Amino acid sequence: MIYVVAATCADMWDDGKQDTRTERKSLRKAKIKDGVKERYAQIASQEQQPCCCSCSCDSVGTLFGAEEMGYSREDLERIPKEAIMGLGCGSPTAVASLKKGEVVLDLGSGAGVDVFIAAEKVGPKGKVIGVDITKEMVNRAKRLAKANGYKNVDFRLGEIEKLPVEDGSVDIIISNCVINLSTDKDAVFREAFRVLKPGGRLTISDIVSEKRVPAALRDDVDAWSACIAGALQKSEYLRKMADAGFGKVQVTAERDFYVETVEDGKKHKFLSVTVKAYKPKTRRPEPAGAGVAA
Ligand SMILES: C[S@@+](CC[C@H](N)C(=O)[O-])C[C@H]1O[C@@H](n2cnc3c(N)ncnc32)[C@H](O)[C@@H]1O
Repeated sequence: MIYVVAATCADMWDDGKQDTRTERKSLRKAKIKDGVKERYAQIASQEQQPCCCSCSCDSVGTLFGAEEMGYSREDLERIPKEAIMGLGCGSPTAVASLKKGEVVLDLGSGAGVDVFIAAEKVGPKGKVIGVDITKEMVNRAKRLAKANGYKNVDFRLGEIEKLPVEDGSVDIIISNCVINLSTDKDAVFREAFRVLKPGGRLTISDIVSEKRVPAALRDDVDAWSACIAGALQKSEYLRKMADAGFGKVQVTAERDFYVETVEDGKKHKFLSVTVKAYKPKTRRPEPAGAGVAA
């Protein structure tokens, strides 16, 4: 599959020579974050199905499109249809082996598709928390939960870089096509590690790139919102997970697609991957001398 994207000029946020490098960096991050939020607010308000991150626009939003992402028809038929917006790039709930009574956290829960599926799987003694930065998405998910009588779901407005979730309180984290949208992936993995119980696990689907994302796309807000510009190289993505403390980091599925940049007509390879990892049951031993005052 090939997506054609227009590149914007890379220095669109150069707000003056007097700005420090750090100020420019944080301004750039804030503009990307605001652009992403704005885009997903628009999508949340649409009745029609939008185009999603990594699938073709003619198949999204339909049960068939979601099945292509790995969802089972049985799971989809149990949940509110308006939660199925075709925004994902995999199906973490299909491979997460969720058990009755577990506490699940969905990073970037959107309209709640994976939260509702997980809620059915963990049952009334379990609980599923969805966190999303976009108010309109959270409101849509809350409305669906109320209208359909879900008692074991909790949608929270918040950022995955600063989770509104207690330390060591979650059995499993899922996420579908969201972490690529973050401008601080180290913080996301650090936070995921913090909120998991020891021995807890993580199953996420996301977009990564084969090579470094072309410079022409790196500051393009539309390309960020389309889950392309923020994609890390696969090896870097996996390394960041390990750096945060996760063990047994393993890619369990991958599918490739291509993005063509308008400027140079070149095709760039991206991958939709599903990754599993674990928080070790015991703390990592501190290096000798660590924590000892000089
Ligand atoms: C591509 S959609 C995926 C939604 C959902 N996971 C699904 O599969 O339908 C990305 C979602 O991530 C949310 N998002 C983006 N950046 C975020 C951040 N930094 N913190 C929390 N949510 C974020 C967006 O608001 C949007 O709802």
